[in-house]
Amino acid sequence: MSRLESFIRRLDAQRLCLDWAAGAVAARPGAVLELGLGNGRTYDHLRARLGAGREIYAFDRQLAAHPGSVPPAERLILGELRDTLPAFAARGVPVALAHADLGSGDVAATAALAAWLGPQLAALLPPGGLVLSDQALTAPGLEPVGLPAGVPGDRYFAYRRA
Ligand SMILES: C[S@@+](CC[C@H](N)C(=O)[O-])C[C@H]1O[C@@H](n2cnc3c(N)ncnc32)[C@H](O)[C@@H]1O
Repeated sequence: MSRLESFIRRLDAQRLCLDWAAGAVAARPGAVLELGLGNGRTYDHLRARLGAGREIYAFDRQLAAHPGSVPPAERLILGELRDTLPAFAARGVPVALAHADLGSGDVAATAALAAWLGPQLAALLPPGGLVLSDQALTAPGLEPVGLPAGVPGDRYFAYRRA
């Protein structure tokens, strides 16, 4: 497979997963967390799929999003996730879905962040809350959920808070 084909497959899988997750939480109240705003592509997709009424909080170290994909200031949370996510959790905002897209070329840093993130999300989400992640997560209370057909097993991961 060429790199172009691999890239297209990755984006196809990501879109399938985002559409599936948006459908899965459609009838569930609560905010959505976009962990890793980056360019804002997946934020923009979730915003389009979930509709204007849904609060989406976007997290990143710094703002580097396309101007059309910048969240309102009160829902843009900048800084190191290890600081900002626990501070957000302390606010007690009910969360329906957390989408984590945090992977980078630094394999060790990505793995360390994923190891930290799983227990954080397990503590933050209410029972039934959904996690969609580009990295496998492990934490007591996070139960793996099957993804739609067509998503390769190692591309995306989903969990429901028990
Ligand atoms: C793969 S990009 C996100 C792409 C984005 N979802 C999109 O569709 O455009 C990963 C982002 O996660 C952010 N990130 C990675 N580790 C982080 C951390 N520990 N704290 C805050 N942001 C982090 C990076 O700054 C980067 O913008």
